[in-house]
Amino acid sequence: MSEPILSLKKVNKKIGKKHLIKDLSFDVYPGEVFGFLGPNGAGKTTTIRMIVGLTNITSGEILVNGNSISKDYKNAIENIGAIVENPEMYPYLTARKNLIHFGRMSKNVTKEDIQHRLELVSLDHVKDEKVSRFSLGMKQRLGIAQAMLHNPKILILDEPTNGLDPAGIRQMRDYLRKIAKEENISILVSSHVLSEMELMCDRFAIIQKGELVQVEDVSNEEQVDIANRHIIEVNDVEKAKVIMQDEYPELSMEAQNNILRVIATKEQIGSFITLLTSKEIIVYQVIREKQTLEDRFLQATNGEVS
Ligand SMILES: Nc1ncnc2c1ncn2[C@@H]1O[C@H](COP(=O)(O)OP(=O)(O)OP(=O)(O)O)[C@@H](O)[C@H]1O
Ligand SMILES: [Mg+2]
Repeated sequence: MSEPILSLKKVNKKIGKKHLIKDLSFDVYPGEVFGFLGPNGAGKTTTIRMIVGLTNITSGEILVNGNSISKDYKNAIENIGAIVENPEMYPYLTARKNLIHFGRMSKNVTKEDIQHRLELVSLDHVKDEKVSRFSLGMKQRLGIAQAMLHNPKILILDEPTNGLDPAGIRQMRDYLRKIAKEENISILVSSHVLSEMELMCDRFAIIQKGELVQVEDVSNEEQVDIANRHIIEVNDVEKAKVIMQDEYPELSMEAQNNILRVIATKEQIGSFITLLTSKEIIVYQVIREKQTLEDRFLQATNGEVS
């Protein structure tokens, strides 16, 4: 695999007696959309503030494109575009003038760059309107255009979907995926709403009370050794249940109408079908109930919310 664009190595943050972030390590790779998830108060904003150098690290290290944010701030921050608190825009200026203004703060931002960014987030048609007339979703997108002006390698967005309606959330998701793909930029996006992240991210990390709970791919469904809930539809559910219980007394199972619900691995399901068929039960279909990110989160955190 290529070198990570962002690397957290055993990062700790203490404020007074509070140990807010504990030995947090994870990597973000080029071109991926990485979800940074956790309940309210888990430490997402605190971590992001350390990544972008807004607050110092108590111990550990954060590398951005190989540069330490604490020892080599200038070279590290050059690679980052971020929206941490709400994007600061001048409401009485137009979208385009805002970008011109912010573009002056970094070197080599051309008119063409600004136009390209406006098109990327579909604000081209309203570029000469004042930002005070923009919806929240439009302001967020303008914030993203601004954060990308200096061609960063990674975008860091703290809860960009906060306050957006379902259509706005969906749009944001589409833009972030498009930006990652077309501009080959990595995106770290935090959220406490897990269902929103499922379609947006390639991988995700979950933190709880300042500690990493798990890092994984969003689509890890094909692992045969993971037990999932399945629905097995048969012609004679009572008979099927007796056959199954005889053979697998330990298995947790429910029978209802003409379906059996079981928690089993993919391999076990294969054996169940063979067994049932050999006893003249007709198996109409087997459906795996997809485990949502929410399920996985609750599993990982034992259902504790914060
Ligand atoms: N300056 C500070 N001094 C003391 N404690 C702080 C400070 N900033 C944050 N905290 C505490 O650190 C913990 C993590 O806060 P943080 O804002 O990072 O969480 P979060 O995951 O971003 O939550 P949310 O989803 O609500 O935005 C909280 O318990 C918060 O009260
Ligand atoms: Mg926060």
